[in-house]
Amino acid sequence: MSSEEVCWPREEHTRAKHELLLAFFNKWVSIHSGYFAGQANGGLVRIYDGFAGPGIYSGGEPGSPLIIMRALCTNPNLFRAWDKVRYDLHFVEKSHARAAMLQQKLEEFQEAMRECGPGWSANVNWAVTCGRYEENVPQPVREPSALFLFLDPFGYSHAPMELTQDLVQQPKSDTLIFLPLSFVNRFKDREGQELALDRFFGTPKWRRIPNGDERPRHLLSLFESQLREAGLGYVGAFRLRPDAANEYFIVGGTSHPKGWASIKEGFWAVDPVNGMEYRTPKQPPPGQQAFSFEEAPVAGPNTAPLLEALRAEFGEREFTVEDAMRVTERSRFLDTHLRRATLVPAEADGQLIVHRPQGARQFKAGKGITMRFVSRPE
Ligand SMILES: C[S@@+](CC[C@H](N)C(=O)[O-])C[C@H]1O[C@@H](n2cnc3c(N)ncnc32)[C@H](O)[C@@H]1O
Repeated sequence: MSSEEVCWPREEHTRAKHELLLAFFNKWVSIHSGYFAGQANGGLVRIYDGFAGPGIYSGGEPGSPLIIMRALCTNPNLFRAWDKVRYDLHFVEKSHARAAMLQQKLEEFQEAMRECGPGWSANVNWAVTCGRYEENVPQPVREPSALFLFLDPFGYSHAPMELTQDLVQQPKSDTLIFLPLSFVNRFKDREGQELALDRFFGTPKWRRIPNGDERPRHLLSLFESQLREAGLGYVGAFRLRPDAANEYFIVGGTSHPKGWASIKEGFWAVDPVNGMEYRTPKQPPPGQQAFSFEEAPVAGPNTAPLLEALRAEFGEREFTVEDAMRVTERSRFLDTHLRRATLVPAEADGQLIVHRPQGARQFKAGKGITMRFVSRPE
């Protein structure tokens, strides 16, 4: 993409990124809005898109600001259940032309909501700032609030970790950061990039990572551990593979389990089997049509690693449904993966012995159900 273009074509992996963003956002905004709606004085839900883009792709598809705005403004709870909650959406874009386009697209959207949508909620405020994210970072607020920070730069030099580290220390803040790992890996040894990368990682430690096939993995681990050091107890990465030569990641970080549940929701929306990655399907050679004889069946989640994690945690000791829920909460699996996809089949094939007090069914929490793994044959 030329840096002059206002809009550019949306690539396949960008579509996946947006699907992840939408699933994350729907869960995240419901959790925080529901919480603040139950407080006497409501609360403030803040959404900060630091590299917002023009709001639209050249094929007409919406960009991140419009995806978020539409998800919020068409949520049926906005006008009733969440009427005590205020929403502040802030979009930062460096390019004048893109910021102007975004302003126009958001105005059009607001108008369309007034005229033919469910109306416009006075609780929703939005602003576009034309400038550099580094100079327009979210400021702390005094009132009870939650913050979602979306950082989606083209390259690493624009998203310095130093700033991210400051930000994530705000209470109730959750972040999704686009990490173009292949670029970082490729440019690591290019002269003049050292300072940009020091800033990106928030440390010069990347300089000690040796060359070789394992280098991208180590760079990703360093990035994740920097977020953890910044105070985000839950950090996980989702891989995007646009082609064989490139890999990007969306790194999610949060300091509380509910934020982590939202991030995982995004990951599993794009990859319902492993919740870990998206690969752009190979295009057929020019002139040939892709065809299939029948629709491939949609596979269920692969929960074998969750069962392994439970076994590693409890060995042959007795544990409760609530214990298993705690392990699941910290893992990359959703709470909906625990019972039907993991515990039920493990009991059915004799790996798990379950004790149910009278009246307790399946794996219901709060019923005193306990279980233990049987030993594996030598
Ligand atoms: C990958 S695009 C964003 C796409 C958008 N998030 C979406 O999903 O539709 C990155 C954008 O960041 C802008 N940008 C580059 N450097 C920036 C900076 N330092 N601060 C803010 N915006 C910047 C670019 O002009 C570009 O529009």
